[in-house]
Amino acid sequence: MSPNNKLTIGLFGYGVVGKGLYSVLHNTPTLTSTIKKICIKDISKKRDIDSSRFTTNAANLLQEDEINVIVEVIDDADAAFKIVKQALQNGKAVVSANKKMIAEHFEELLELQKKYNVPFLYEASCCASMPIIRNLEEYYDNDLLNSFRGIINGSTNYILSKMSTEKQDFKTALLNAQAAGFAESNPALDIEGYDAVNKLTILLAHSFGVVTKPSQILFTGIQNTSEVDTQYALEKELKIKLVGSIKKLQNGRLAAFVLPQFVNTNDDLFFVENEFNAAITESTFADKHFFKGKGAGAYPTASAVLSDIGALRYNYKYEYKKLYNNDAIELTNDYYLNVFISTNDISKIKKEEFEWIDAYQNTFSKCWLTGVIHAQKLITSNWWKQQGVSLILCEDAIVENVDYKKISKQSLALAGIT
Ligand code: HSE
Repeated sequence: MSPNNKLTIGLFGYGVVGKGLYSVLHNTPTLTSTIKKICIKDISKKRDIDSSRFTTNAANLLQEDEINVIVEVIDDADAAFKIVKQALQNGKAVVSANKKMIAEHFEELLELQKKYNVPFLYEASCCASMPIIRNLEEYYDNDLLNSFRGIINGSTNYILSKMSTEKQDFKTALLNAQAAGFAESNPALDIEGYDAVNKLTILLAHSFGVVTKPSQILFTGIQNTSEVDTQYALEKELKIKLVGSIKKLQNGRLAAFVLPQFVNTNDDLFFVENEFNAAITESTFADKHFFKGKGAGAYPTASAVLSDIGALRYNYKYEYKKLYNNDAIELTNDYYLNVFISTNDISKIKKEEFEWIDAYQNTFSKCWLTGVIHAQKLITSNWWKQQGVSLILCEDAIVENVDYKKISKQSLALAGIT
């Protein structure tokens, strides 16, 4: 495709993002591209544009010679993978926003790109309008990253914001997030952290060249965040955020997880509210960068898709520089985390799994503790994810060099819970 090439788009999906893209494209006169056909599932649905624009037959897009770009913004990850695979095999450039599909099929998608040598771009899959993938890919080419930390799910941030600033209850805030078009059609994907861990999987590849599956990463969402947690945060002037973190440890390996975390006013993430996403990167020479942008919603997502479509005009492709050019970095679960755990029943906490307990309260209305636990113990057990138990990372989440600090497990006895 040359820079002067006209882009003729076959669009899959006409939901929140598809509609947003349609409107954005019609309001971007500088981009010479047209949507030739839109493939949808249900032709009988009433839509705001002429029905002749639609088809239910994928082949009308995938086999159409005039279409040189497939844009895929459907919900179903399995169907999306089939579309993307077929499009790449047919030599068509592809733009996708489907984080679940990309995270789960990353390795196969790399192979397909290599084999068919066509661009596959997906800026909209992570943090919508906040340009992060291309920045990770291009800017931090030589100045190597040491860490990435961010709010990468708009719906949960919106819910947490509305609960803390407007005192909305969880259910109302979630309904509002759905009404605004921020949440996934199955909002459990947002609430329980699946969406964020899918995004972190993609970001891991572009920031550190690590290809893994979402199922290999330690994660949870905000489904168990309780009144005790919000009260604790309020008393200590903290906020709760769902944070995705990647950090190069002193041993050269990488810690990666998505967990709720307390943040204080010294943390840039403290001030990120509603559907905004944000990321803090730290690299050897540049030091710290802070990115912020709308991470969900029709237009912010469409703007990222639009940016990818624009990039196709100059034949932009991800080079996966960290993956192909650098020495492989390994993921590890061999590190410790500083955690706060609240519960409605102290017997649900596996206290023997902690290295030590720092603080503890067990009254009729409040039951919580803070302490240090090995990450592998969280990966291999589920007690901390069960209903009635809420885990939130403390501000300084990762504890390395535990040995010299290690206090004996007697601290559990001191806390009165052995
Ligand atoms: N449901 C997603 C979110 C949409 O809330 O972040 C954008 O990926």
